[in-house]
Amino acid sequence: MKKILNIGIIGYGTVGRGVLKILEKNQLIAIRKSGVKIKIKSICDIRPIDKPDLYVDNYKTVIKDPEIDIIVELIGGYEPARTVITEALKNGKNIVTANKAVLAKYWDEIFSLAQEKKKLVYFEASVGGVIPVIQGLNEGLAANEIKKIKGILNGTTNFILSKMTNEDMTYEDALKDAQKAGFAEANPSADVKGLDTANKLAILSSIAWGSWIKVKDIRVKGIDKLSVEDVKIASDFGYVVKLLGSAVKTDNGVDLWVEPCLIDHHHFFATVHNEYNAVMIEGDASDDVVFYGKGAGQLPAASAVVSDIIDLAKFIATETAGEVQNVIYSKKKNIKFLPHGKSKSDYYLRFSVVDRPGVLAKISGILGEYGVSIASLYQKDRNKDKKVSIIITTHRAVSEKVAQALEAIDKLPIIKAKTVKLRIEG
Ligand code: HSE
Repeated sequence: MKKILNIGIIGYGTVGRGVLKILEKNQLIAIRKSGVKIKIKSICDIRPIDKPDLYVDNYKTVIKDPEIDIIVELIGGYEPARTVITEALKNGKNIVTANKAVLAKYWDEIFSLAQEKKKLVYFEASVGGVIPVIQGLNEGLAANEIKKIKGILNGTTNFILSKMTNEDMTYEDALKDAQKAGFAEANPSADVKGLDTANKLAILSSIAWGSWIKVKDIRVKGIDKLSVEDVKIASDFGYVVKLLGSAVKTDNGVDLWVEPCLIDHHHFFATVHNEYNAVMIEGDASDDVVFYGKGAGQLPAASAVVSDIIDLAKFIATETAGEVQNVIYSKKKNIKFLPHGKSKSDYYLRFSVVDRPGVLAKISGILGEYGVSIASLYQKDRNKDKKVSIIITTHRAVSEKVAQALEAIDKLPIIKAKTVKLRIEG
């Protein structure tokens, strides 16, 4: 049995520094839990770092080092992260990564290689920051057939939406604050356009259903086009706007989407603020299980990385790592998807119209023609241009029918701006 286990960190940014802090501070806990001393042998980054004795300027040196047992990939993005992970696996290393983008895009390549080489790839920090949702899904809920996964999976957008809702902050100021706090991706468009949430949903779904569920199978809408007006109206109506990722097994296939949604203020998700994330998973035996915690930030993400290192260290020390894979994945398993237009939901619709007799009749008539049933209706005071907002909530309706009705309505001369359509959840 090994007494010392060497790790090499590739990518020394916010999370990498957090990993060092935790491994230094909680060294004894790590030894007690893993049975070995975990030693950082090398750190590679494109720029020299404040630990010159550990610094290596070329990642190939780290992944080829025979004394290193675990490669911790913290570069982010697709390349060179993908090459680092795949080459390290080929060199017989086990991997810990926080990189959701590379996993979602190269799931097949990475886990096929891990199977072939009998090595492990751990990635708890890739979804939900500190939250042990990968372990929860893989181990805690291993006995279940998974029915549903729903979650607030992006700290940056949740932070922005919380500030817009509770502190009247503008979208731009809230985004700047999120960037300052270190939550946002280097390019925050992945956060606000919903791609980061989609990557995380693809990872959770791939684990849940034992196949590679790709981002292209998910319908993705971000918060970048969301107006403050809708956030405010939602709040007046007793809803909170959240960016949700959702994967639900229906009789006609898995329904996958990422969208800003109105959440009833009594629902658990409505209480998830700022950089916190939450995931609700329904298993056939477990029923609903909720995971909650900080989804972004240096120490929460680093906590998940170090916990993965400790877990892996146990297997490496006893020379059992990779005998059983942590990700059950089969290339052959085909998953049936629900066509996006067939997804069903209650909807919030905001029409910008001229205020004159007969307008409501026209709108409700077209909704009726497409089988969209109205649940409630509200008209806001007219503004100085004699324009008004009409807010309609619908009963459960088929997405494509609502879209077709809105296409017809938006062609009417009474309509002054594109109609807003948001799902209502919970
Ligand atoms: N940009 C991500 C977020 C970081 O805001 O949630 C954690 O993956």
